[in-house]
Amino acid sequence: MSQFLFVSDLDNTYVGDDEALGKLQQQLEQQRQEHGSKIVYSTGRSPQLYKQLQEEKQLITPDALVTSVGTEIYIDSSDSYDTEWAEILSKGWDREQVVATAGHFSDLVPQPDSEQRPFKASYFLSEEAAQELLPRLESALKERDLEVKVIYSGSQDLDILPNGGNKGKAMQFLAKRYGMPPERTVACGDSGNDIALFAVGDERGIIVGNAKPELREWYDRNKSESLYMARSACAAGILEGLKHFGFIEGSA
Ligand code: GLC
Ligand code: MG
Repeated sequence: MSQFLFVSDLDNTYVGDDEALGKLQQQLEQQRQEHGSKIVYSTGRSPQLYKQLQEEKQLITPDALVTSVGTEIYIDSSDSYDTEWAEILSKGWDREQVVATAGHFSDLVPQPDSEQRPFKASYFLSEEAAQELLPRLESALKERDLEVKVIYSGSQDLDILPNGGNKGKAMQFLAKRYGMPPERTVACGDSGNDIALFAVGDERGIIVGNAKPELREWYDRNKSESLYMARSACAAGILEGLKHFGFIEGSA
């Protein structure tokens, strides 16, 4: 066993099965102490909603926290986000224009203020409306030369982000900081905003057994040796995947 970089989504991935979460956290803490492995949470939540979950579920302190769908990185429990990452994201990002463009679509219902972030504009969007709306929104943004990424997750959440900002790119930014190669980096997720973690490069990926349809469909089209679809849900699925890749002892 040796050092690795562990990156995980929280809702319905790391969190969702309290008993398995206890086991997983114990394993991760041990890996961190014995081998200097790094623990990173990568969530769609804002720092404020992350804090609520952290307290409620007694999450161990990560080495780095990525919030707001990969657009903010907090290293070593810092109160302010990493400015180097923020600078990368600011290039070509015009939040006001993005919000004005989205404002033309009445099916897009703005999420609470806490989830509107410097590099993320978020809405609720029903599944029924999504099919017809998404292509129209994409072309409206394009027409205004706004280089952004539109991400639809869990059949309800729509995020608009700077082109360079997503969970996958944030993971690679941290892997570089920690000097961790792709084969010693493993990402875990369950929904649409996690696809970037699995699609960005050769990092190992664990898709939990309870993954949402959009991620399952993506996986069916992109199967590879570096991706593992777990049988178990949430933290139990993560433990299964960590064993499969040989990051921890035991058989998957
Ligand atoms: C979290 C965030 C929300 C976002 C969603 C999907 O629920 O709070 O703003 O839309 O993740 O990325
Ligand atoms: Mg999730």
